[in-house]
Amino acid sequence: MESGEVGERSFARSASNRVAVLHGVNLNMLGRRDSKHYGDLTLDELEREIRAFASDLGLQARLFDTNSESEFVEYLHRMHELADAVILNPGAWTHYSYAIRDALEIAAMPAVEVHLSDVDNREDWRRISVLEGLVVGRVVGKGAEGYRDALEMLKQELEA
Ligand code: DQA
Repeated sequence: MESGEVGERSFARSASNRVAVLHGVNLNMLGRRDSKHYGDLTLDELEREIRAFASDLGLQARLFDTNSESEFVEYLHRMHELADAVILNPGAWTHYSYAIRDALEIAAMPAVEVHLSDVDNREDWRRISVLEGLVVGRVVGKGAEGYRDALEMLKQELEA
């Protein structure tokens, strides 16, 4: 934390290092999903890895997951208060939810899209991402390691 002063008021100014990590529909079922695509980690275990990656990089991770599209959208609406950058794995919503695309546009902050599986080499419909053009990066098919790559990309963005 750095501190600064404006007139007589002093304030705490936090470094831009808060990264929200959002998981969408069916990701809470990790551990019971096809391990060929998604690996063996549960969402809790994956989130623990993400927290460790973030702390190695000097970033603060804020984890959120939901099966409700409206909660996902509403979390994005609050994002400007909660984080400086965002990683999203919206699950199947990635492929068709223009509501999530619009909400990410409103959030107006650096974003990276992550998929555990190699969505570009599975069914055709998984190649479509409604987030295209809004994200500074996209990591697919690297499992949990993909989140480390995403955090590194966002760290560079936040430091630029
Ligand atoms: C996923 C890929 C999506 O196509 C799928 O619907 C998911 C998970 C992934 O992480 O590989 O639920 O986002």
